[in-house]
Amino acid sequence: MSGTHEPVMLAEIVELFGSIPHGVLLDATLGMAGHAMAILGRHQGLQVVGIDRDMMAIQHANNAKATLAATDATRFNAVHARFDTATDALRSLGIHQLSGALFDLGVSSPQLDLAERGFSYRNDAPLDMRMDRTEGVSAWHVVNEYSADTITDILRRNADERFAKRIAQAIVAARPITTTSQLAAVVTTAIPAATRRTGGHPAKRTFQAIRIEVNAELEILPNALRDVMSLVVPGGRIAVLSYHSGEDRIVKQVMRDAETDPTRPNIATPFAHPSRTAPRAWQKVRVAKQPSAEEQAHNPRASSARLRVMERCEVAA
Ligand SMILES: C[S@@+](CC[C@H](N)C(=O)[O-])C[C@H]1O[C@@H](n2cnc3c(N)ncnc32)[C@H](O)[C@@H]1O
Repeated sequence: MSGTHEPVMLAEIVELFGSIPHGVLLDATLGMAGHAMAILGRHQGLQVVGIDRDMMAIQHANNAKATLAATDATRFNAVHARFDTATDALRSLGIHQLSGALFDLGVSSPQLDLAERGFSYRNDAPLDMRMDRTEGVSAWHVVNEYSADTITDILRRNADERFAKRIAQAIVAARPITTTSQLAAVVTTAIPAATRRTGGHPAKRTFQAIRIEVNAELEILPNALRDVMSLVVPGGRIAVLSYHSGEDRIVKQVMRDAETDPTRPNIATPFAHPSRTAPRAWQKVRVAKQPSAEEQAHNPRASSARLRVMERCEVAA
């Protein structure tokens, strides 16, 4: 993948995996492998398996692997997969448990910056927005084929867009819309002039919402988190960086359920009756931490990030 991506909360993320048991760490969203390489460099007792649904990320990782010292290269693997199939991908490598897992959600800077991917209102390109260009429907399909009501729902659910209905109606009226620039112009004119001047580009939320729909990002997330968490050993950790409220709500809910879910047996008390006194399977380590003010000023893409971390509880003797 060409271009660079600045890993968000890098020092903190590397640090929080310092105390986990030796073994395998899954980077479920490898991207430009910034987090993965830093973890590999700092924690000699960890092997890193990185997965990404974007083939460009895997090619980039394989190039990076070729530059590692031989001993480090044996501790790193990159696999093309969607993170909701992570357990299968791991099993095919003979891996059945994890010491930790990282999810750094959303898109990487090179995906946004590469015009031909059609993710950005800043670059003119055919509407695409698929992270994996070998599967699924593109943004063109959503913009040109979905009903106004469905687009309205998507804009509300995926981006809390206040003017969802107006934008959806404007999109339907302007069809066919084939490029990112056309879509950005239609959205901009649909938003009241006074609002257009505040809060960033007027089409930002619409592009985010359509990207999330195209890649089924919110549908995939909860089960993927649960499946991966089921492989984490006691003392292991899961860290999730989310970038908007819809994502963070899901992460928070899955983590809250893991702390309290009485239907998920605790290894220590597999037959325990559901009760508030049942030992917890997971406990929170970080509650929705944000990047520092310095990091947000230096890297605007980090400004909406929320980091949540859980640790699998030790099993009682
Ligand atoms: C924010 S970037 C990760 C950046 C990475 N931590 C780094 O340091 O370079 C998110 C990456 O996750 C990938 N991704 C998003 N959803 C995915 C999914 N469901 N399965 C696998 N990869 C996914 C994207 O293709 C993108 O490369």
